Amino acid sequence: MSIVERALKRLQQSGQAAAAPKPVVAPAERKAAPAPAVPGPPRDVGARRPIGNPEKSVHIDFEKLRHAGLLPPEHQQREISHQYRILKRPILKHAFGDEAQSAQARSALPRSLMVTSALPGDGKTFTAINLALSLALEKDHSVILIDGDAPKPQLSQALGIGGEAGLLDLLTNSSQSVESVVMPTDVRGLHLLPIGRRSETATELLASARMRQVLDEIEQLDGAAIVLLDSPPILLTSEAQVLASLFGQVVMVVRAGGTPQHAVEDAIGIIGDGPRVGLVLNQALHDSAGGYYGYGYGDGFLDSIKSEKQ
Ligand SMILES: Nc1ncnc2c1ncn2[C@@H]1O[C@H](COP(=O)(O)OP(=O)(O)O)[C@@H](O)[C@H]1O
Ligand SMILES: [Mg+2]
Repeated sequence: MSIVERALKRLQQSGQAAAAPKPVVAPAERKAAPAPAVPGPPRDVGARRPIGNPEKSVHIDFEKLRHAGLLPPEHQQREISHQYRILKRPILKHAFGDEAQSAQARSALPRSLMVTSALPGDGKTFTAINLALSLALEKDHSVILIDGDAPKPQLSQALGIGGEAGLLDLLTNSSQSVESVVMPTDVRGLHLLPIGRRSETATELLASARMRQVLDEIEQLDGAAIVLLDSPPILLTSEAQVLASLFGQVVMVVRAGGTPQHAVEDAIGIIGDGPRVGLVLNQALHDSAGGYYGYGYGDGFLDSIKSEKQ
């Protein structure tokens, strides 16, 4: 059985177990799940300065997002919020470390995370938004959510910021400051970076060396922020492959019963050994009303299977 096949099987098994009111997590993660809030780097939270352009503050319209299918139906909100609380713990741990590590080691950890999948429609944007909202609830952290899906800038459209300057503008114009285009929101801790103005060369821009610089500048806006990028699908675009190499963590969304296994394997092969890859099994369970819920997170799990194999 291949690495991915085994990872998915274990995730699926844990997903079925979650039909009981237990959290849906991969066995490797289950041990870590009850851990209390992950401590962030030592800093004065109260003194944190606001980030982004205050003149561009955005109202997050939850109803509109729900209508666009990017938030769960209200009757599933509680369960799904619970799944995201579990999903974010290992992500935070790998972005900010723990008290066993020195402050210097912790400050060097990559705080950027790419949400991707093998194919379109697997649930990248759904996962990116719900994960960002969950991360924004963290008292000690904030989140900068970037729309990096130039072919399908669904995030910018759903949030009503499709016409605003954003990532592509930063990539084309080095004199444009990151601070001027990052948009604060009325959800505490949540900031947005829209895709920006359409560009014929978006693919090349996203895969350019400048993207690394821009990502660094975004990370530097707030040392307590996690930077989340909603990306294009790995197998259909060439820029997603280059993008993945810039990120410390990659969340690979797998649509349960939808994404073909060979596609997941190919995508993971393309991402390579650079970033940590966690699998999220999306839409794993159906409730009686016909909706979807259920997430499995295989964070660290691919690593452990890989090392088993070596
Ligand atoms: N967990 C989920 N529960 C309900 N609907 C979902 C879920 N994940 C994705 N969807 C729906 O599936 C469709 C595709 O998801 P989306 O996030 O847009 O995929 P992608 O960004 O990978 O193209 C959307 O219409 C979205 O509403
Ligand atoms: Mg999308």
